[in-house]
Amino acid sequence: MSAGPELEAVLGWLWAHLGEAAARAEHGFRFPVVAVGGEEVSAATVTLRALWFFADARGGRIALIRRAPRIAWAFYGGALGVQLRASGPSTVHCRDARARALWEQTPLSSRRAYLAPAAPGTPSPGPTSGLPGPVEGRVPSEEEARPGFANFAVVETRVERLDWLALDRAGNRRARFLWTGEGFSGEWLTP
Ligand SMILES: Cc1cc2nc3c(=O)[nH]c(=O)nc-3n(C[C@H](O)[C@H](O)[C@H](O)COP(=O)(O)O)c2cc1C
Repeated sequence: MSAGPELEAVLGWLWAHLGEAAARAEHGFRFPVVAVGGEEVSAATVTLRALWFFADARGGRIALIRRAPRIAWAFYGGALGVQLRASGPSTVHCRDARARALWEQTPLSSRRAYLAPAAPGTPSPGPTSGLPGPVEGRVPSEEEARPGFANFAVVETRVERLDWLALDRAGNRRARFLWTGEGFSGEWLTP
């Protein structure tokens, strides 16, 4: 870290809060918006799991990330009064050891989301959850959830840029951190 102690404190603060948000559903950074796709940009709210999120491998977003792996995350914790933006190259894990390890840690109630026979965004004649009848409205068994693994993707971002904006009536503050290959180098920016 090539900057003064205050910037170091900001960097410590933001990683601590990202860690906390991955562990605690009520944290203000829990549901960031992720933008993917370069020219075909698409933004969606996802659920934070460290700097990974889970998605259906058949969704258009996964195809966009495979084509353009640099993705951008935006977090806004209203109660914290902080906007945090992070970006970097991302890897899609599907049907590999990484996906398997995280699938096994995912509760059965969440694994159910990957059981829909049709891909996300497929038109439907009426309102639908897309889930097979037997598991609609209840938690599937381990056995029933198993076929969902084929559709389960983990998107993992290697963070290279961080931009922290702290809102304050007396004057906002902003800092940027760039990955140097060995650590993050920080500098203050005019908000
Ligand atoms: C609070 C919240 C959390 C969400 N979490 C996820 C998530 O972790 N993964 C995901 O793929 N979609 C998640 N979604 C749904 C996406 O925002 C999006 O609607 C869906 O993935 C379809 O996107 P697509 O049209 O780009 O395929 C979440 C939505 C909300 C409102």
